[in-house]
Amino acid sequence: MRLRSLLPLLAGAVCVMQVANAQVPGEQAPVASGDNADLIKRGAYVAILGDCEACHTAHDGKFLAGGLALQSPLGAIYSTNITPDRDTGIGTWTYNDFARLMRRGIRKDGSSVYPAMPYPSYSKMTDEDLRALYAYLTKGVAPVSLKNRAPDIPWPLSMRWPLAIWRLIYASGPASASATSSHEQTRDALVERGRYLVEGPGHCGSCHTPRNIALAETAQTAAEGSKYLSGGFIVDNWVAPSLRSDDAGGLADWTDEDIVAFLKTGRNRHGATFGAMNGVVVHSTAQTEDRDLAAIAAFLKTLGPPPGVPARMFRYDDSVSRQLFAGETPTNSARIYVDRCAACHRTDGRGYAGVFPPLAGNPVLQGPDATSVAHIILTGGRLPGVADAPSSLVMGSYRDVLDDQQIADLVTFLGQSWGNRGAAVTASQVAKIRLATKGQKMPAGE
Ligand code: HEC
Ligand code: HEC
Ligand code: HEC
Repeated sequence: MRLRSLLPLLAGAVCVMQVANAQVPGEQAPVASGDNADLIKRGAYVAILGDCEACHTAHDGKFLAGGLALQSPLGAIYSTNITPDRDTGIGTWTYNDFARLMRRGIRKDGSSVYPAMPYPSYSKMTDEDLRALYAYLTKGVAPVSLKNRAPDIPWPLSMRWPLAIWRLIYASGPASASATSSHEQTRDALVERGRYLVEGPGHCGSCHTPRNIALAETAQTAAEGSKYLSGGFIVDNWVAPSLRSDDAGGLADWTDEDIVAFLKTGRNRHGATFGAMNGVVVHSTAQTEDRDLAAIAAFLKTLGPPPGVPARMFRYDDSVSRQLFAGETPTNSARIYVDRCAACHRTDGRGYAGVFPPLAGNPVLQGPDATSVAHIILTGGRLPGVADAPSSLVMGSYRDVLDDQQIADLVTFLGQSWGNRGAAVTASQVAKIRLATKGQKMPAGE
């Protein structure tokens, strides 16, 4: 097989699937004293910014002991044990071993890691942050003896040497990382701190930036062009939307405060977190300091439309809500909406603030791909509770209530009501998502 056709397959490691691991209290209990204590504490915070737990803790597994399966087109790849156990973890790694892995994707034995480990983003982390992270992982985390699992990828595709070539092409290595301190007050300093958090440890682009044929992100940084964070990548049958402000399918209608509220509490006046974003909110952004969230928001709001393209904002249109309110349900899908959905999302599509998300103006109903909409109707969703918004709210599953055609019609109805400009789906697309999400269990919707 020619190398060119082999590369995409071998590099076919995708980001983390829906990850919602409960942290077992006390397990990582850092016992530290003296000079190290501050460094370790800082490192624990860097681990939150980098969301290491999302991938390196398996469901019901020990903290950071690895073993979570990440699906690739060729078979599962397993995250590794990054606790300080000397035999099975990274207990014998020096700081240089660790920094080489985080910056260049090269393991202690010299082989390359799959880019399922988002090192192209971590390569932008400062030395200071990496040193703190190393101190935390080697001294602040409980060692766990658990052997790494080899990927379920058959030989010869399991050979790692082509990954080294992928690495040379798509992971340019450390930029001259500069992370301004978040204590500085000016807007510029805030934006620079946000740029660092998003492009570096936060690795937001690993889901929110579209990928090329070798599954590499089409832009690693905002400076590399307007594809950066422009959305469209599908993770576990959820679409990661655009985080740019060029249209209402992105963040055009969101203020800084809206972005901070979403990252801190998983909900705001435009929508609620679901799918692959839940793990990011629970393990990372809900625990991120407010000033760093403000920095992320300030940076995201600098990502405008390409030059000459006006931002496309949402405008509420009340014709559908007037009809529904008057008891007129001109189509089957309008009737289904009133019967099954309006109790929570209301006939005006505005939901109940902080409880049931609005569907009018929700970015998920403005974008060019309605996969997430069909997915959440099929599987339902559970909005996770976090420290600043403890209520966990559930939408039931309509898998056994509505057929593929009814769901397709409903998605089209939602995308065209209240001023939304969402995409349609066909019944056969719904059938595919139904099959792909079969195992996901939620209480039945009514
Ligand atoms: C999106 C998922 C994901 C995230 C987030 C992630 N990792 Fe990884 N990491 C992986 C996978 C998968 C591997 C194994 C790749 C392979 O087998 O080639 C890995 C490998 C590693 C290794 C190499 C271990 C070894 O024994 O070779 C280290 C060290 C590591 N990760 C540290 C971290 C740290 C520190 C963070 C947080 C800053 C982090 N990872 C976040 C998925 C992830
Ligand atoms: C019992 C109240 C309830 C009912 C009934 C309900 N939903 Fe939901 N809906 C929710 C909640 C809660 C969420 C947030 C779930 C999450 O975050 O995972 C949600 C989320 C959504 C979303 C994603 C928007 C976002 O920002 O999270 C869509 C689209 C949606 N619902 C459509 C529907 C449709 C269509 C129906 C009817 C077939 C329906 N809902 C019925 C409560 C409900
Ligand atoms: C594992 C994949 C993944 C990663 C990593 C990720 N996201 Fe997301 N994100 C998603 C998905 C999928 C959605 C759509 C579901 C939703 O709206 O909650 C989403 C939604 C969002 C939204 C809501 C946008 C909208 O239009 O409704 C914001 C804001 C956001 N992400 C910000 C971030 C930031 C900031 C980071 C990095 C710190 C990040 N995300 C990292 C997958 C991811």
